Amino acid sequence: MKGQTYIEEIADHVGQEVLIRGWLYNLRSSGKIHFLLVRDGTGVMQAVIVKNDVPKEVFELARRLTQESSIKIRGTVRADPRAPGGYELSVTGLELVQLAEQEYPIALKEHGAGFLLDQRHLWIRTPRQAAILRVRHEVMQAVRDFFNRRGFIATEAPILTPTAVEGTTTLFAVNYFDDKAYLTQSGQLYLEATAMALGRVYWIGPTFRAERSKTRKHLTEFWMAEAEAAYFDHEDNLRLQEELVRYIVARAVERRHKELEQLERDIELLKSEIERPFARITYAEALEILKEKGRKIEWGKDFGAPEEEALGDHFGRPVFVEALPAEIKAFYMQPLPDDPKLVLAADLIGPEGYGELIGGSQRIHDLQLLEERLEQFGLPRKPYEWYLDLRRYGSVPHSGFGLGIERTVAWICGLRHVREAIPFPRQLYRLTP
Ligand code: 4AD
Ligand code: MG
Repeated sequence: MKGQTYIEEIADHVGQEVLIRGWLYNLRSSGKIHFLLVRDGTGVMQAVIVKNDVPKEVFELARRLTQESSIKIRGTVRADPRAPGGYELSVTGLELVQLAEQEYPIALKEHGAGFLLDQRHLWIRTPRQAAILRVRHEVMQAVRDFFNRRGFIATEAPILTPTAVEGTTTLFAVNYFDDKAYLTQSGQLYLEATAMALGRVYWIGPTFRAERSKTRKHLTEFWMAEAEAAYFDHEDNLRLQEELVRYIVARAVERRHKELEQLERDIELLKSEIERPFARITYAEALEILKEKGRKIEWGKDFGAPEEEALGDHFGRPVFVEALPAEIKAFYMQPLPDDPKLVLAADLIGPEGYGELIGGSQRIHDLQLLEERLEQFGLPRKPYEWYLDLRRYGSVPHSGFGLGIERTVAWICGLRHVREAIPFPRQLYRLTP
């Protein structure tokens, strides 16, 4: 018998004796037989202990096991269509690693969201939450593979920064010795610099927004996949975004089918949402569509959750909203050549109410225009001097975008709230665990 076998590979070991090292998820007993549900991080399987087949101590030990006790189990793998997952372990040996304290906080019953979030460090052990984290892993890996295969170089941006990227109202300030620093809202400005050094760059990093909104789409700390490319224009930018999103979803469906089924995701619906080219409309067209649906938005106002949801529903697939009003967007966005009130930016709105998945734009490459914008936005000049240098020395048109990891994971998994799409969510009223 080899060393530890993982439950996810159990199908390759039918008829063999294996060692599983994990935790007790649930125990059912009838006088002469124990049914243990055992999890090991890769899956859950049933282990059966028959009184007459094992030493007395083993049978007694099993009886005393509490939920989440850590254990090592030896047994023979049998294919059994009635067992959860289709395989079962006929136990020959059992060893206790730690007997979990009585009354595991998360019993096998329904709990409210607030309670579960307080117990997040334990909640992630449940099969559903573990499945979500596996899908998240796949999304992260898909982003990396996508960019690496295309020759993008991964470059990191600092977390402690002297500047705002996405407006000054959502900055988290921290003491930086005798100075003040902000937790980064986006790595974009730094990626613009590394793009001028390396051509095409990306990173996946944590980003922070002091958002006072308590919605199902906002976290105060979330992860963004950002890309930036020199000589890319708005069209190149949208093409890249569409290819990325399509790749991430297709890959999650292919490699995490089991998890998506476990999450009861409507996989056919998800697949249908990336079948056709993504829709593409202007901000003005979006206002028209919304008006027809009885949602009148004044020109120059940003969309809220209900508007995004209505647009997502209208198209039933991701939709780019472009030609956005400059006044509601960030300072660095390049104006449309024929209408400077609008910018060469796009938000990608997801279907099924998942809202904005990506924000991106072509960046201003002209020094003077960028200087004017900084002033119009009331931003201090000094901390941006280095950023202006990028326009002084070999400035070129360039574009980039940021994709919200949690919103993407929530969409793929069909989650109601982004807080389940990250191991430890940070929200307005949540800093623990
Ligand atoms: O649209 P945003 O603010 O764009 C930027 O930060 C750009 N600087 C990115 C770039 O061009 N490199 O944010 C990008 C995405 C949003 O579309 C959304 O998916 C996600 O990040 N996001 C959030 N996700 C969770 N909680 C929040 N509070 C979020 N704010 C933005
Ligand atoms: Mg945005």
